[in-house]
Amino acid sequence: MENLLEKIISLAKRRGFVYPSSEIYGGFASCYDFGPLGVELKNNIKKAWWSEMTKKQENIVGLDASILMSPKVWQASGHLTAGFADELVECKKCKKRFRKDFVEGVKCPECKGELGESRKFNLMMKTYVGPVEDETAVTYLRPETCQGIYVNFKNVAQSMRLKVPFGIAQIGKAFRNEITPKDFIFRTREFEQMEMQWFCNPKDADRFFDYWLDQRLNWYYNLGIDKNNLRTYEVPKNELAHYARRAVDIEYKFPFGWKEVEGVHNRGDWDLSNHAKYSGEDLKYEGCYPYVIETSHGVDRSFITFLMESYKEVEGGRTETTEAKKELETILKIHKDLAAVKVAVLPLVKNKPEIVEKAKEIYNFLKQNFVCQYDESGSIGRRYRRQDEIGTVFCATIDFDTLKDNAITIRNRDTMTQERIEIENLLSFLKEKLYV
Ligand code: GAP
Repeated sequence: MENLLEKIISLAKRRGFVYPSSEIYGGFASCYDFGPLGVELKNNIKKAWWSEMTKKQENIVGLDASILMSPKVWQASGHLTAGFADELVECKKCKKRFRKDFVEGVKCPECKGELGESRKFNLMMKTYVGPVEDETAVTYLRPETCQGIYVNFKNVAQSMRLKVPFGIAQIGKAFRNEITPKDFIFRTREFEQMEMQWFCNPKDADRFFDYWLDQRLNWYYNLGIDKNNLRTYEVPKNELAHYARRAVDIEYKFPFGWKEVEGVHNRGDWDLSNHAKYSGEDLKYEGCYPYVIETSHGVDRSFITFLMESYKEVEGGRTETTEAKKELETILKIHKDLAAVKVAVLPLVKNKPEIVEKAKEIYNFLKQNFVCQYDESGSIGRRYRRQDEIGTVFCATIDFDTLKDNAITIRNRDTMTQERIEIENLLSFLKEKLYV
């Protein structure tokens, strides 16, 4: 679809999914804020991941480690060295800086001036802890959440009496001082990760790598991502991150090219053995350093992936209003588990108090169970369109007949079928459709 990214950015802002951060001050450094619908979608993505990676698994437990950690962690992990740096080039004329691999040719992409020599630029976000801003107070905002898992590895294993193979999962913010953040929320300096570290016997690492890669691909397929829009990319040895023995990226077909949404990594014993060396703690478990198979996924990248995948435009007339017939209609055909709003409650007219009262009663009742919206303004066709645009799964319309038969019309977003459901059966009907 032409201009899909622009369309998504516009929808996201207009309908309360994503706003530019600090917008009244002109925005700030490619940071974004998630609005009322954005926070629902984001929470639903995290819920779907958490459920898949912890609840449905036999041997995976959760963790929520702090963002600020001892700076020694970052010495041990290798993030303070050249291993966690990008090549930066500066334009000699306008002084703008770019990530070298994002620049084509030798000229500045902005002013066509000459580019200088490239140099390494470390991506760690530095900060100070406590009231004195000297070198002893320096620490960093974590660039990946998994280090919190490695340093707690023994705590978790012992307190939960776990035996390898087992996993620890975590969702949380991570920060990287990206040279060139770009493509909306695809590459930002503050983002959220969902990471699972699977600790296993080194001899089983290859087998588990394939297993987890497969599991992760299925997660996307089950949530509605077309198989043709996902592919895997075996990272060549010379491009591997400093910690990785093997890495496969899961890539999505974005309008700006095939790009990584998730990485599956074999980190070997890099992290545990280095933390043992730097901390002096014995981090061997059951006689050896377990190998780590990691699945590492960006919430924000997942967010934009699901929006892109579900954004559809159809010829007008779908909602049967005369004005709609002339325009393209937008539908977010997003999986029901991810949809920000599950049910919209719509009184057919707003000037009949009995209908409005009934609709509000149903809305107040349903919103105890699902995220709902109440909308009484505009024609019913317009209101369906508004809900389709944000991916609301069902619209519940209260009409004149409701006052006689105590039933309402339920409209399905995707099939557009309308069913008459008695109010007393409404909750069980919706639960069955939305929870299964
Ligand atoms: N612990 C391993 C690790 O962090 P990574 O490939 O550097 O591996 C994993 O990052 C995932 O985190 C990526 O696949 C992506 O989804 C997300 N991610 C990384 N940098 C990001 C950024 N600047 N903005 C948004 N998401 C990012």
